Amino acid sequence: MPTPPYEPLPAFPPGFLWGAAASAFQTEGAADTDGKGPSGWDAFAAAGRIRDGADASRGTGFHARYREDVALLAGLGADAFRFSVSWPRVVPGGRGPVNARGLDFYDRLVDELCRHGITPAPTLYHWDTPLPLDEAGGWLDRDTAERFAEYAAAVAARLADRVGMWMTLNEPAEVTLLGYALGEHAPGRRLLFDALPAAHHQLLAHGLAARALRAAGARRVGVAVSHSPVLAAGEGEADRAAAGLYDTLTNHLFSDPLLTGAYPDGAIASLMPGPVAEDLAVIAAPLDFYGVNYYHPMVVGAPKEGAPSGFGGVAVPGDLPFGLREYPGAERTGFGWPVVPEGLRELLLGLDARYGRRLPPVVVTENGCSYDDAAEDHRRIAFLDAHLRSLHRAIGDGVDVRGYFTWSLTDNIEWVEGAAQRFGLVHVDYATLERTPKASYRWYREVIAAQKGRA
Ligand code: NOJ
Repeated sequence: MPTPPYEPLPAFPPGFLWGAAASAFQTEGAADTDGKGPSGWDAFAAAGRIRDGADASRGTGFHARYREDVALLAGLGADAFRFSVSWPRVVPGGRGPVNARGLDFYDRLVDELCRHGITPAPTLYHWDTPLPLDEAGGWLDRDTAERFAEYAAAVAARLADRVGMWMTLNEPAEVTLLGYALGEHAPGRRLLFDALPAAHHQLLAHGLAARALRAAGARRVGVAVSHSPVLAAGEGEADRAAAGLYDTLTNHLFSDPLLTGAYPDGAIASLMPGPVAEDLAVIAAPLDFYGVNYYHPMVVGAPKEGAPSGFGGVAVPGDLPFGLREYPGAERTGFGWPVVPEGLRELLLGLDARYGRRLPPVVVTENGCSYDDAAEDHRRIAFLDAHLRSLHRAIGDGVDVRGYFTWSLTDNIEWVEGAAQRFGLVHVDYATLERTPKASYRWYREVIAAQKGRA
């Protein structure tokens, strides 16, 4: 366990971007302030789906306290802040008029970041779909992709002059799997393989939005995609096939269309709706960077009758052709997730090998861990330190990685887990919303200062 003074990290390439990340639903609160409309997640929370009963509608109070959080970022010496724009704050009905007061908030936030020399790095979709769109089918409906592009254009018209890098979507695989296949996240659909159109429409939304962003003069357009190495639970053919399918569905189903313009297999492509070939041409338009979110590898095997299959609170029904298993022998975060820093290097090398020159510069857009240590979070320091060393090795191996955003600046609402899982460098007291930097905040500040030669 590292304790001060910390062993310095090896030098990252000059110009490497050091950042922290967060999202609107998890932090903003102010769920109906200044004309914001409801999101599918607001409805999901109101329906009692947050397991610990945390009041997600307050978030961390970021909407009111953003100046305090920007000061914390400035105190870190961060180069960039990855936040998300709430779609229903900007287009409350999902379609139709833009809510200028909703956009005003992001205008103020972006100005505040710029005032401190911090690059604003917004994500346009971090899971909070306007409720009327969810009620009309959400990502199962092609229209949602068109509406998303209109929203993207409205945000870019207001912010493109100051934003340094854009991400269209966050983790479309989790939205598809948890939101549409397994029903664990909003909008709570349990469609199993019939969820696949939700993947296609998100990818199309990305392509249309990227086009709209560029038309509005946006600089540096990318996307944030989760990637996990997938290990077969055993040597046998059934386990290897199950792991291969899981790898396809959660990794390559998204990266292949984005980076090569094709789905990873014909059977999957044939299940996608609409003019798929034309859509793929839109989806695969060149990116300025490819954002990767990494938390842990997955161990997958053939489904076992009677054996529990689940991970991180997600139960996998027996009628799916794979089952999730525990990763053997690793330490665990507070969430029970295995700590496997080498997985980051492995997945980056895998992307580099699979896509070669088609892989744009990579930015790690999320990496972090939940622990409930309120102040002396040395386990978080050990986690981040080890992942940054693994990332550094991947760069040494030749992968072009340009930046790293840790998840997250402050503790926040961890979706259905509520306030129980704390990922922040900064502790949030949910009764008072008071922020208190943890040891990891001071450690990250030292890392950034040392990397910039200011230590
Ligand atoms: C990925 C998601 O983008 C983020 O919202 C979430 O809090 C982290 N994973 C941790 O689960």
